[in-house]
Amino acid sequence: MDTHTSPTGTTDRAAAVETVGLTKRFGEHLAVHPLDLEIRENEFFSILGPSGCGKTTLMRMITGFETPSAGRVLLGGVDVTGVPTRNRDLNMLFQSYALFPHLTVFDNVVFELRVRRTPRAEADRRAIEALELVKLAHLADRKPDQLSGGQRQRVALARAVVSGPKVVLLDEPLGALDQQLRKEMQVELKRMQREVGITFVYVTHDQEEALTMSDRIAVMSDGVVQQVAAPEEIYNRPQTRFVAGFIGSCNLLDVDAPAGAAGDEVSVDLPGVGAVSGVLAERVAAPSRGTLLLRPERIEVSRTGAGVRGTVTELTFLGEEWHARIRAGENLFRVSVSSLAAERELAGFAVGDELSLAWRPQDARIVIR
Ligand SMILES: Nc1ncnc2c1ncn2[C@@H]1O[C@H](COP(=O)(O)OP(=O)(O)OP(=O)(O)O)[C@@H](O)[C@H]1O
Ligand SMILES: [Mg+2]
Repeated sequence: MDTHTSPTGTTDRAAAVETVGLTKRFGEHLAVHPLDLEIRENEFFSILGPSGCGKTTLMRMITGFETPSAGRVLLGGVDVTGVPTRNRDLNMLFQSYALFPHLTVFDNVVFELRVRRTPRAEADRRAIEALELVKLAHLADRKPDQLSGGQRQRVALARAVVSGPKVVLLDEPLGALDQQLRKEMQVELKRMQREVGITFVYVTHDQEEALTMSDRIAVMSDGVVQQVAAPEEIYNRPQTRFVAGFIGSCNLLDVDAPAGAAGDEVSVDLPGVGAVSGVLAERVAAPSRGTLLLRPERIEVSRTGAGVRGTVTELTFLGEEWHARIRAGENLFRVSVSSLAAERELAGFAVGDELSLAWRPQDARIVIR
């Protein structure tokens, strides 16, 4: 098996961070359900989920800022559950990072090493290295208010890595930046992480950011980690309706799933359409209500071919592709058609057209969660 995409997270690479039954309860509210997670050394690991799903709470338990209600945290195989933050070999970069306004860039970065009483020459050398890493060595004498937003962000990053922690946790570090700067910093962050070989635990609610930057992603909703896998796996083989709907665009069609084993090709009924084919994404012990997950770009559209007949109700041109809404029976399908395919197969494509929709069974995955 390709260990990189293993959803269970077991490989030969050592675990940098492990959680065992880690749980957080605020009064009646279960903010993080019991969680077993394994984050590997040098991994870029993202935690992705909507606002309030428990991302920050999980990070704060790993760092020690928050006391778990139950469960344990291990760093490098050592149980640190009761160990104070300052004695954990990690650093956290908060969304609202604060630089010391009266200190220069250099002094901001070297600050932690001074506190740790690192010998002066070594501290100076490491601070300069960290600034070189974020390409700011030439601005070492500036004060924070003489920097752009992106430059300040990079100072904060230099400060987070200067002491050479094994793990750096970043909580929506790019949230405050504009789109252009955000894109630049994503590239920068990824390069840094590769160069330094630090484990990054990265919180975001931006799915595109998570897909492009991560080795693996944990998708969270309502305090529950729904799936942990590599970006391509998460996108192509979502295990739950929530994951499919949260990452990218997806048709989510209510169906009655028959019993069967994971991977079984089955036929299910779509209201007003009839039987369509799909595969079970998981074992179904007894017939259950489920969801058929079908990506818009996995649907092939033709004028006269075999498939589900439907009517175009909406059409939007986006340059490289068209987005169409196609009504078939009681279902409204979202379909994306590349401009090339539209030109070749659907000349004169317009609202009101009657078309056929077809897909390979393995592209229509049926989940019951
Ligand atoms: N100290 C607290 N006391 C009570 N409830 C809390 C506390 N901290 C967080 N919560 C609740 O726990 C849940 C998870 O909060 P958390 O901050 O972890 O979410 P998040 O995923 O980081 O959200 P966001 O994307 O908005 O930052 C929320 O419902 C929140 O209101
Ligand atoms: Mg948060």
